[in-house]
Amino acid sequence: MKSTTTADVVYLTTPIYYVNDSPHIGHAYTTIAADVLARYHRLRGRDVFLLTGTDEHGAKVAASAAKAGKTPKAFADEVSGLFRSAFEELNIQFDEFIRTTDDEHVRQVLIFMEKLKASGALYEGEYEGMYCTGCEEFKTEKELVDGKCPIHLKPVEHVKERNWFFRLKQYLPKVKQLIESGALEIVPRTRKEEVLGLFKQGLADFSVSRSSVEWGIPFPGEAKQTIYVWVEALQNYITALGYADDRPAFEKFWPHVTHFIGKDILKFHAVYWPAMLIAAGEEPPKRIIVNGYLQLDGQKMSKSLGNVIAPHELIQKFGVDATRYLLMAQFPFGEDGNIQAEKFTEKYNADLANGIGNLASRVLTMIQKFCGGEMPVYDLQELHEEYNDTGRRQSAQIYENAIKEFRFDGALKTAMNLVQSCDYFISGEEPWLLAKKNPERLKKVLASLILSLQQIGYEIEPFMPNIAKNLGVALCVEKFTSYEEVEDPIPPGRVFQPLEPLFPRLEGGDWDKH
Ligand code: MSP
Repeated sequence: MKSTTTADVVYLTTPIYYVNDSPHIGHAYTTIAADVLARYHRLRGRDVFLLTGTDEHGAKVAASAAKAGKTPKAFADEVSGLFRSAFEELNIQFDEFIRTTDDEHVRQVLIFMEKLKASGALYEGEYEGMYCTGCEEFKTEKELVDGKCPIHLKPVEHVKERNWFFRLKQYLPKVKQLIESGALEIVPRTRKEEVLGLFKQGLADFSVSRSSVEWGIPFPGEAKQTIYVWVEALQNYITALGYADDRPAFEKFWPHVTHFIGKDILKFHAVYWPAMLIAAGEEPPKRIIVNGYLQLDGQKMSKSLGNVIAPHELIQKFGVDATRYLLMAQFPFGEDGNIQAEKFTEKYNADLANGIGNLASRVLTMIQKFCGGEMPVYDLQELHEEYNDTGRRQSAQIYENAIKEFRFDGALKTAMNLVQSCDYFISGEEPWLLAKKNPERLKKVLASLILSLQQIGYEIEPFMPNIAKNLGVALCVEKFTSYEEVEDPIPPGRVFQPLEPLFPRLEGGDWDKH
């Protein structure tokens, strides 16, 4: 048995989502990416903890609840349930779905706040300035465009209130040094530079309490103040691991944390959060992976802009795995990109129905027809050297590099390139002619194609687990392994099972909603 080393432990988190409104595919995007990485590591036998959940306190959620005529808690229960079921439907294999209204979270947040207080990191003061409820964030004049929040395109609120503040300035040199040295890794590099730019512009102490917001966790020792929603939300990453108790899960997973976030919440994660942890005497996070926005017509997809697509709409049309594929394959992870909703059907047909699906069914049909449904006898070395081996080997290497660099779109592109090179291989070899001309070569060609399908199965599995499973059933492969690590290529004589069509072709124009 393999012994567990710390390199085998992986802790992945997604942002926790505001429950002011139902989930859209922008939320799904980050969560699927984290799930893909979690699955990738699990398939390699690593001990993985994937955390997601909902952020339920604050003015924004309270306002939405009031609008819906519900209490904040009843409203939060409802919308949190929508996120949870959307993520379940998307086949997100989370280990915990945390809610910031959970008693366990609240109890531990209070302990954390006491620690901050005791460390001298907090002081009382008065805040006067702007606040964007959409962002749940204090804004400076410089951040506004025409007096409006550039993200929500709405006027900000002027607030003046007595607050507790966090002495951010005191911790800035240490946080900056962590980022510069790479001890806190921020991916992609452009986001690291963006954060370092914030240090240059100057960062101020921030409020950790609100006196005008009732829907929140009461601030210790203050009858009228609640904890600023961001300050307690960030703590979900450690309360989920029981950091305030006897800490076995915390000690095991926290040193291996990777936070997945969207670019709009970078400052909170890369500056405020490490500083708070240091002040409380805990280790800062190790790594932050930042994704860009899913946009429609150049604008961030968001409920407040009214341009959202719900995950369920895509799932109904394309199925779960294809939805995961279509989102992850859209554009380079880390950059903003327009999702091409009008091209979803085209992409589905090209890459999935006519691509992977068609290749798998062609190869298995030929195996039935020409080889009695069995893996032909082959010599691995000979296939390595002569039959499309370079395609597989390169694919395996490029794929691993893409995943290591969190280029999820790149990993999928690699799988698609291998599909394409198999298609070319088939056209070049013309197996149907080889059947008469050169049956020995035919067997090798088909064996080689099966090994490529094995590699393709391996590459798509974290992204499209159900499809990989169906392919695995047909190939009688319980666990796909990479060509790089293959010690168990499908052996000669294996009897294959019938393959259900992986992706039925979709007809009838395009997905016409957008
Ligand atoms: N509650 C805070 C996060 C607290 S984490 C301790 C929050 N919630 S949110 O629901 O507004 O956004 C959650 C995440 O979804 C953010 O990372 C945000 O970037 C991401 N996205 C929201 N819309 C998105 C797109 N259109 N595209 C990509 N990501 C998007 O912020």
